Amino acid sequence: MNCNSGYEAFKKFVLEKTEGFDFGDATNEAFLSNLVNYFSYGETSLNRRKGLLIRGSIGVGKTSTLRLIQKWLPQDEKFMYNPANDIVSLFNASGDDALTVYKKKKQRLFDDIGAEDIGKYYGNSVEIFEKIIYQRYDIFRDEQIRTHLTTNLNNEQLKAKYGERAYDRLKEMINTVNWNGAESKRGKQEWFFKPEKEEDPNREPTPEERAERKKSFIQNQLIKPFKGIKETGAFEIDKHNAYILFKVFRKARMINVTPLEDSEYTKKAEEELKQEAQKDKKGHKPMLKLLEGLRDGDKATEARVNERACVLYVIDYVLRLASNNRDIEQIAKQL
Ligand SMILES: Nc1ncnc2c1ncn2[C@@H]1O[C@H](COP(=O)(O)OP(=O)(O)OP(=O)(O)O)[C@@H](O)[C@H]1O
Ligand SMILES: [Mg+2]
Repeated sequence: MNCNSGYEAFKKFVLEKTEGFDFGDATNEAFLSNLVNYFSYGETSLNRRKGLLIRGSIGVGKTSTLRLIQKWLPQDEKFMYNPANDIVSLFNASGDDALTVYKKKKQRLFDDIGAEDIGKYYGNSVEIFEKIIYQRYDIFRDEQIRTHLTTNLNNEQLKAKYGERAYDRLKEMINTVNWNGAESKRGKQEWFFKPEKEEDPNREPTPEERAERKKSFIQNQLIKPFKGIKETGAFEIDKHNAYILFKVFRKARMINVTPLEDSEYTKKAEEELKQEAQKDKKGHKPMLKLLEGLRDGDKATEARVNERACVLYVIDYVLRLASNNRDIEQIAKQL
């Protein structure tokens, strides 16, 4: 099997998230793999340009397997899922208006066509999927949008229900997939999603989680804004994250603040905090608090000043790296 195939990832997802799913024998896995890979750019015999008409007898696993694939697919690869009978109910409530949504350029799966009732609206009886097939054929032809269907009906039955014209269009739009296996699993087998574990908010992150968080922090708070310096001239990062970044650099021993720099940045930080306090239009309280804190050597104020000094320092430091044309990806590796 192609090791790049989506099927391996799908299988992993199913084993992790569900219980009781039966992958069957090698033949069945080959069948599943062909199907999953069609949706996920792996190796498949199916024509990706066209949709799927999935045919199989009752209870073999069509609906639940397709919904599982849908759940696994990334957001922008997902198809919309519509049970055929739901559409009939919508039509019975509001007529043709209910069908316009299916003209939209969106990949869809219509589940269990053939078993739905005839649509009835103000005395008109309408074979809903005859209409929907026409609509979907148009967007297939003009916009390459795929339509998937599942059914228990054979070709003759489909033709008899929806008419020659619709059936002929359908043939052009789809790959036919005959479900592997004909025995109903209902009542014999069952799979379900494992209940999601409740997260304990006090749980310590695992070392992998920590590493993952750090990686994404560095990506989003250093590498990305660093690349923005060229365009804006500024290192755009919020103060809280800049302070964390300072600590990350210092931990990696890449920042070493001299006593001279320390007093210089502390002064800058005090100035900046004073200016901010002045801007506060609501009153003099923040300003007074800051001045009093500075005068009395209050610990909380000292911490605020120190934090701001670190922020100012790290911003200047990163700007210096940028003006020296340092390779940020290389630097990030040392953090
Ligand atoms: N691979 C599987 N492993 C375990 N249980 C399964 C598997 N596939 C389906 N089932 C179970 O079999 C039952 C029937 O499946 P499903 O509804 O998907 O069949 P279907 O082909 O859509 O049937 P119908 O044609 O009647 O709509 C469900 O209870 C489902 O949980
Ligand atoms: Mg079904």
